[in-house]
Amino acid sequence: MAFNLFGSKSKLGIDIGTASIKIIELEKREGRFGLDNYGLFALSNVKGGPQGDQSILKLPDDEIAWGIKEVLKKSKISARDAVASIPSFSTFSTVIEMPYLSEQDLAKAMPFEARKYVPIPLDEVVLDWSIIGVTGQGARPTVEVFLAAVPRSETVRYQNIMKNAGLNLKALELENSALTRALIGNDLSPTVIVNIGGRSTSILIVNKGYERLSHNYEVGGFEITKTIAQSLNVNIEKAEELKKKMGLQQVDENIINDAMSSLIDMMAFETKKTIENYETEKGVQISRILLVGGMVNMPNFLRYFKEKIGREVFIGNAFARVVYPKGLENAIGELASTFAVAAGLAMREV
Ligand SMILES: Nc1ncnc2c1ncn2[C@@H]1O[C@H](COP(=O)(O)OP(=O)(O)OP(=O)(O)O)[C@@H](O)[C@H]1O
Ligand SMILES: [Mg+2]
Repeated sequence: MAFNLFGSKSKLGIDIGTASIKIIELEKREGRFGLDNYGLFALSNVKGGPQGDQSILKLPDDEIAWGIKEVLKKSKISARDAVASIPSFSTFSTVIEMPYLSEQDLAKAMPFEARKYVPIPLDEVVLDWSIIGVTGQGARPTVEVFLAAVPRSETVRYQNIMKNAGLNLKALELENSALTRALIGNDLSPTVIVNIGGRSTSILIVNKGYERLSHNYEVGGFEITKTIAQSLNVNIEKAEELKKKMGLQQVDENIINDAMSSLIDMMAFETKKTIENYETEKGVQISRILLVGGMVNMPNFLRYFKEKIGREVFIGNAFARVVYPKGLENAIGELASTFAVAAGLAMREV
């Protein structure tokens, strides 16, 4: 597949998840994005197949690079400029308030300030920050600063993987920043994005277009598959198949409901708690919840989650501003949630 809808130069977004590597190729013209190509390399493509605690990110770097090359080859992707993400569970971010200073003075003050918040020695991380708002009035205005830290070793690792895959890495970005770009657009209302992947669930609060809070909850699709396997005494592959086929359908013959529902209830509870804490602390009302990640494709997942949370919940559509070829209509919903991070990466200006 290679559509090249607009005939302009395209860029790759590469999301190395624990369950699969997702690559998307977008081109841009006059403020619109066109979907040129996409591809996925799943853990099941790895020799030996999916196992208990297997994860793409636990593979040796050269195998990950090989997996990326496989996707490029199989999907006939020709673009080489890429933006890749660093997973939420290996990064640190927070929003802090600082006195109103000039950009230069702030730049000088940040490393000292960061020391109070970043749980890793500063010489082992790459620090990034940006002003996202001005608060406080009168004589003492303050600025809100989004502060992010990525372990230096991780950035080196990703640079090597991309180089070995034959790609030009144009930028490395936090997973949550990519999700914000793909799903929020110009919407300024307080929104929660819940990304339910293989290893973990990340809960992200975005307000006025910027990330305000993120929380990583260490339960995802893998744990759910494992629970199904244990309680029905079947192997991981069979459990994975049942999970995707039966999901949370409320029918008598659904033999996996009981096994998984408590884990999914906990995800919903964690989301609810994070939202309520934020609302109380900041005095704002969250207007909607957007779900993305492979897990949300589970039959009846959206309805079940909505019931547990008791709020407006939607499937996030990373392709809301993307033009795609005819014939993809049926697949686009699942693509838009699974490739949400990758889409946001490919939309980044470099
Ligand atoms: N149709 C489906 N029904 C149920 N579960 C599904 C479906 N499709 C994918 N999943 C599950 O979603 C999970 C993978 O999601 P995703 O691709 O978002 O993960 P990832 O990005 O690789 O992981 P992470 O973000 O945690 O590193 C797997 O556990 C998989 O079983
Ligand atoms: Mg993911």
